[in-house]
Amino acid sequence: MSKSDCYVRYAIEPRPIVDFTESFESEIDNFGFNLLGTPLKPEGVIAESDMLLSCGQWADYIIGGISPESIDDPNIFQAEMGWATYLGITYIMFAPFLKEGSFSTIKEIEKDEKKEKEKDTEKEKENEKKQRQTKSIRQKNFDYARMINSVLQSTTSSDFLLPFRISDESSWNKWNETRLMAESYSALYPALILDSGKVHTKFLDTWRGENVKALIIPSDLFESLPSTKEGSETEKSYQLPKGIVELIKYFMSKDVDIILRQCGGHTIHEDLHSQFQYLKAIELNLPKLSEWELAFKGCQDILQDPLQPLKDNLESSSYQVFEDDTIKYELYEQAVYKALVDFSKLRQKQNPKVKLEESPIVVMVVGSGRGGIVRRCILASHNSKVPIKLYAIEKNPSAVITLRNNKWEYDHEVIVIDTDMRVWNPPERCDIMVSELLGSFGDNELSPECLDGAQKILKEDGISIPCEYNSFLCPVSTPRLYNELNENKKKLKNFETPYVVKFGKYKYLSDVQKCFTFVHPLPKESIKQNNSHNNRSKSFHFVISKDALIHGFAAFFDTILYKDVKLSINPIDHTPQMASWFPIYFPIQKPILVKAGDYLNATMWRCTSNDLKRVFYEWTVTYPVILPIHNVNGRSSFIGL
Ligand SMILES: C[S@@+](CC[C@H](N)C(=O)[O-])C[C@H]1O[C@@H](n2cnc3c(N)ncnc32)[C@H](O)[C@@H]1O
Repeated sequence: MSKSDCYVRYAIEPRPIVDFTESFESEIDNFGFNLLGTPLKPEGVIAESDMLLSCGQWADYIIGGISPESIDDPNIFQAEMGWATYLGITYIMFAPFLKEGSFSTIKEIEKDEKKEKEKDTEKEKENEKKQRQTKSIRQKNFDYARMINSVLQSTTSSDFLLPFRISDESSWNKWNETRLMAESYSALYPALILDSGKVHTKFLDTWRGENVKALIIPSDLFESLPSTKEGSETEKSYQLPKGIVELIKYFMSKDVDIILRQCGGHTIHEDLHSQFQYLKAIELNLPKLSEWELAFKGCQDILQDPLQPLKDNLESSSYQVFEDDTIKYELYEQAVYKALVDFSKLRQKQNPKVKLEESPIVVMVVGSGRGGIVRRCILASHNSKVPIKLYAIEKNPSAVITLRNNKWEYDHEVIVIDTDMRVWNPPERCDIMVSELLGSFGDNELSPECLDGAQKILKEDGISIPCEYNSFLCPVSTPRLYNELNENKKKLKNFETPYVVKFGKYKYLSDVQKCFTFVHPLPKESIKQNNSHNNRSKSFHFVISKDALIHGFAAFFDTILYKDVKLSINPIDHTPQMASWFPIYFPIQKPILVKAGDYLNATMWRCTSNDLKRVFYEWTVTYPVILPIHNVNGRSSFIGL
């Protein structure tokens, strides 16, 4: 990864603005950081003038820090928030909670303490005293969580950081509880404070799927290196322990803000400057992203409605995107090549006297778009030296214009048919029917319905490329996407719609399990007029791998094109570098809190209605909680037939 591959912003804090000797911007330029963390408390800027900076600078450069004193005193909290609002600061860091277990453990702790008391009367008084103290810390934290929530509900244009010590076992629970109390407010982000002497990578897993916005690195975590030149006044140099560097690398690759926190008597111009250079060097030495990874970095965590190429006519730009993914077309070419070689051998065995040139293999590309796969069929024929008669069947009138005007490789003839494959009466039947009507969940662009309809154009012994596809499901934690759906007013519809998404900040929480399978061609008698043979249902029993909040299911597909030629977006065996399909996200209305080793039972249905001309999915969770069945009768989302 080069510098331009990531979008890491750097901040130093805490630094009162009045410390600046030169102008604010030249100081920022000299140092090379993008943000400045500054306290909002009285001895910070709160007593200073708002004219220290311009309105734009307050908004663009400042992280306003709410003071720890505010936890105890709502008046301080409100004064600091009021000052931040007045200044137009849009990036606020709350103080961390007081050290204590998570909110939900109160009952258990009380029970334990009661048992203790019964056992040991001598400790009674001491215990009571302890209980009173700890309760008051908890109560303070509760009150603080409430204050945070009331700010979130009344502000719309700021980002809020809530800091947690990464190696505190109760941190994630406390974060999770706070965000649940705040109804998963999307502008509340966790910030992680690194600390020394702990196995950081162990905690990394806990936070992996979270939308962590900032990493706070206290300057005293750095180890000072002995000066190389004796007696000279060269700049001090510093390094961080290896485990911490690995953690920083991970978060830099996720574009989190890096906040270097001044402490341990370190000075800005000597110590922090050198530490800052060290951090920049880590960023510059991150492994370079491949072109492929780079191209898709900007697409992460963007929810898109799946395409509906049957109901809608695709635009030129969609075809362009498909055609840019050469891997898919190469694999189609391989599949057609292998099928042609097999067919020619079979033909020669069956009719040794008939020359292939006189009776070429008939190939029909159904749903041929602008001809990406048609070209590959021509190449496969040329390379295998198996002659073919080639048809391109497409129902999108605009794509048909392109097909008709295409100049084909080796001037091969292509018979272009402008029709819906389901209703076409062909002049002859084909040996090989090639299609690419697959969505990210396999069947979700209605390949089963289209190919069942088109099957009459295929000879009895003909083959379909693809011959099989499978969908897959896995529970996922993806707070960022959940929050986005939760913000929007049309909540029911949002949570009952599957989305195509390149997951960015997420955690898969179990093994990936097979959902539905479709094969082609089908025995004639199993194709039902009312399409009921394409209904499916599947129940799942997942074993959860990590403590987490489940926000729904990530879904994938794979397909067998021909024999060993496969395409897959299942993370277990994803076809390398293939970019045509991102996963699908099936959200759930209420996140479910799970622990490693817990079970999760879920059911997914594929439902078809010929009367309503639609196919839709319904899904639910039945353990550890029962959720309503999502998208009943396709009320929120469906695919048009
Ligand atoms: C996903 S695109 C694939 C296009 C092309 N095969 C490629 O890979 O570049 C599916 C194409 O099938 C066409 N299509 C979908 N359903 C069809 C149908 N029932 N009859 C004919 N064409 C159909 C769509 O218009 C679209 O052009």
